[in-house]
Amino acid sequence: MQTVRVTDVAPRDGLQAEAVPVPTVHKAALVRAVQKTGVAEVEVSSFVSPKWIPQLGDAADLFALLAPFKPDRVLYAALVPNEKGLDAALMVNAAARSEHGIERLIDKVSVFTAASETFTQKNTNATIADTIERFRPIVPRAHEQGLRVRAYISCVVACPYEGDIPPTAVADVARQLLELGVDEIDLGDTIGAGTPETIDAVVTEVIDALDGRAVNRFGEPSLTLHLHDTFGHAAACVRTALELGVRSFDASSGGLGGCPFASTPERRAPGNIAMATLVRTVEDMGFVTGIDRAAMAEADRVASGLIA
Ligand code: HMG
Ligand code: MG
Repeated sequence: MQTVRVTDVAPRDGLQAEAVPVPTVHKAALVRAVQKTGVAEVEVSSFVSPKWIPQLGDAADLFALLAPFKPDRVLYAALVPNEKGLDAALMVNAAARSEHGIERLIDKVSVFTAASETFTQKNTNATIADTIERFRPIVPRAHEQGLRVRAYISCVVACPYEGDIPPTAVADVARQLLELGVDEIDLGDTIGAGTPETIDAVVTEVIDALDGRAVNRFGEPSLTLHLHDTFGHAAACVRTALELGVRSFDASSGGLGGCPFASTPERRAPGNIAMATLVRTVEDMGFVTGIDRAAMAEADRVASGLIA
């Protein structure tokens, strides 16, 4: 049976928009519960401006709490929007190396842009082209340190400000990111607008942009799908993506999540596809996730206890 990689983004995407601050020790408890589930990766936090996302301003402290407890088989990831973010991530790794002898606490940095100019501006105060230029020095510097680089593209189906986004616009951004040498493209359906038809269209375009590179130099999937479940279509979209060959998905324990800049005044952005929904859907399609159901239920319980 084929394996599907699962990344839990609850500690980052799930908590970045919380109105009530979540204490760092509680976030650490969530990560520790999540990493017991058998998940391949945990997206722990972001090294972004604390003025923009105060909820994740404790990223370095959180990683320091986690350092003694990181299992070898789980990768830790963090978002970085610019070189300042990468510097902060590398400082965390240097501290973990000197204090705990850990070669790399953070294994992957994730840069992020979008296929919508308006969203990119509101999320990162930059044009899409500017974000690509910000990433250009990040990729070789991360690689020199043995880190993987994921590149998120948000609004791959629709943008909360611009409406429908053409799949060719997404593939165009993907090509630019691949030219930079990123290890993985992660397609974000930021507002959960996707349907099996629209996911089919955009995934097909991006697979074309990948030009046969189904796995990267780490032997890991080059393409990930990051679904939000606003309208309850995420499971159907997962099935479509599996049929197209996608073998990596993000989800969040407890279904936490939502990008603050994807919200409109009337509606807060909804959560990521719940881990339980993803695992059930993927395994029903005959794939292996390696997720232990009892540990997943415990992580769900911890996650749900954190939010207001
Ligand atoms: P800016 O204001 O244009 O940046 O923000 P700046 O370079 O002018 O710096 C402004 C201040 O921020 C300065 O501090 C910098 O030092 C500081 P001051 O001098 O005023 O005291 N700063 C930083 N501090 C810490 N870490 C950094 C950093 N960079 C600058 N890395 C910036 C530009 C990109 C920094 C800002 O817009 C930002 O941090 N945005 C983050 C937005 C974000 O995290 N959004 C959520 C993640 S994306 C998402 O959720 C979508 C996803 O889930 C996929 C999907 O669902 O579609 C991934
Ligand atoms: Mg998201």
